[in-house]
Amino acid sequence: MSLDLTAAAPAAPTTADDGVWLACIECGETFAPFSSIRYTCDHCDGLLEVRYADPPTFEDFAGDGVWRYAAALPFEEGVSLPEGSTPLHHVPRLESEVGVERLRVKHEGMNPTGSFKDRGMTVGVRVAKELGVGRLACASTGNTSAALAAYGARGGMATLVLLPAGKVAAGKIAQAALHDARILEVDGNFDDCLDIVQELAARGEVYLLNSLNPFRLEGQKTIGLEILEEFRADHDTYPDRIVLPVGNAGNTSALYKCFRELVQSGALDPADVPKLTGVQAEGAAPLVEAVEEGNDGIRRWPDVETVATAIRIGNPVNAPKALPGIRATGGTAVAVSDEAITDAQRALAGEGVGVEPASAASIAGLRKLRDQGVVDADEQVVCLTTGHLLKDPDAAFEAGNDPEPVPNDAEAVLEHIAE
Ligand code: F0G
Repeated sequence: MSLDLTAAAPAAPTTADDGVWLACIECGETFAPFSSIRYTCDHCDGLLEVRYADPPTFEDFAGDGVWRYAAALPFEEGVSLPEGSTPLHHVPRLESEVGVERLRVKHEGMNPTGSFKDRGMTVGVRVAKELGVGRLACASTGNTSAALAAYGARGGMATLVLLPAGKVAAGKIAQAALHDARILEVDGNFDDCLDIVQELAARGEVYLLNSLNPFRLEGQKTIGLEILEEFRADHDTYPDRIVLPVGNAGNTSALYKCFRELVQSGALDPADVPKLTGVQAEGAAPLVEAVEEGNDGIRRWPDVETVATAIRIGNPVNAPKALPGIRATGGTAVAVSDEAITDAQRALAGEGVGVEPASAASIAGLRKLRDQGVVDADEQVVCLTTGHLLKDPDAAFEAGNDPEPVPNDAEAVLEHIAE
C-alpha cells in the first residue's frame, strides 16, 4: 500500500518538477505539481499527496520557523508572517497528575494568527501564487478562515470564506473580518460549507485552501519536524506518543507523512516513530468510530455538536490519509466529553498555557487513555494544542472566573477580597 510507514522513497516520474510531484494515494497516478490546478485524482478522485525524489534528513534543516524545513517543502520560501518555532512547554503539575514519565505541550496557538493553520497557509498561498490563481477560498470552523484571510492579505490576494452560521468563535470571525476576507455565513454545518466550496473550486471560481489541498499539509508537516528536533535536543530521545485534536484529520495526516519521509531518508528509525493518537469530541467523533470498529472508511455524521467548535466536523476528509497513520504507528483514537474538554482547558490555563477548547481535547484524551491504561506510566508524550485561548473568548469566560463588581474605593476593595 502506498501509505506504508516503511515503503521505500518513490522514483521520480516524468511528471516531476524539480524532484516534486503529486501522487494519488489510491491508484498511484502521478501529476505535475504546478502546471494545472487539481485537488484530487483525475482518474479515481482519491486524495493527492506531494512526493519528493529526495526526502529530507535532519542535516538539511537550517534557520527558524516553517521555512527552516524548506528541504522538506516544495519551495525555498513562502508568503510568511513568519510562522512556526512554537514553544514546547513543560507542564509539571499536569505531568504528575496524568501520571506519565514526561509530558510536553506543543502550543500551536502561538503562531501569528493563533493557530497551526498558519503553517499550512505559508505554503498554500505560495503555491496559489505559483499557479497564478485569482481568489482564495475555504470552508472553516474559524481558524482556517482567520489564517487564510491574513495570508491572503499578506500575499495581496482576495479571499472568500464560508462559515457555519452561529457556530464560529468570535475571535476567529473578527480576524477574518479585519484581514478583509469576504465572509459568507451558511445555514449549515462545516461539512456543508466544504461541499459548497469544493463545488466552487471544481467550477474554477476559487482556489481551495482547505486541508484537502495537499500543499497545505506540507506546511503542517513541520509541526512534527519541530517536535522531533526539539524533543531530541532536550531529552536525547523522541516522544513515544503525540496526542492531537482531530477535525478533518489534516494534522494527523501531515504528521504521519513527516514520519514516513524521515523513515524513507533513513533519518528516523521506524521503531522511533511516535504513536499518533487522535482525539475527537463525543458529539463529533466519526474518526474514533472508524478506529474502534476497524473500518477503512468513515461514516459521515450528519449532526455534530460540541463546545470545541473548531472540531465540530462530521466528515473528516483526510481520513484515508490519517487512518493508515494511526494504525501504522500503533496509535489510537478516543472521544471525550465537552465537560472533560473544559476541565482540561482549565488545567492547561492553570499552567499558564491558554488554549481554545478544541486544543484542550488533546489533554482530555490523554487523561482518558491513561485512566483506561491504554497509555502507560513510562511513556513520554507530547500533546498538541492547536489554537490560542483568545480565539474563543466566550468559552474562556464560561470556563473561568466571573469578574466581581467592586466600589471605587480601596477600603471597600480590601473588604470585598477578605470576604
Ligand atoms: N484544532 C483547532 C483549533 C482547529 O481549528 C482544527 C481545525 C483542528 C484542531 C482540527 O485539525 O482538521 O487537521 O484535524 N479547524 C479547521 C478550521 C477545520 O476550519 O479552522 P484537523
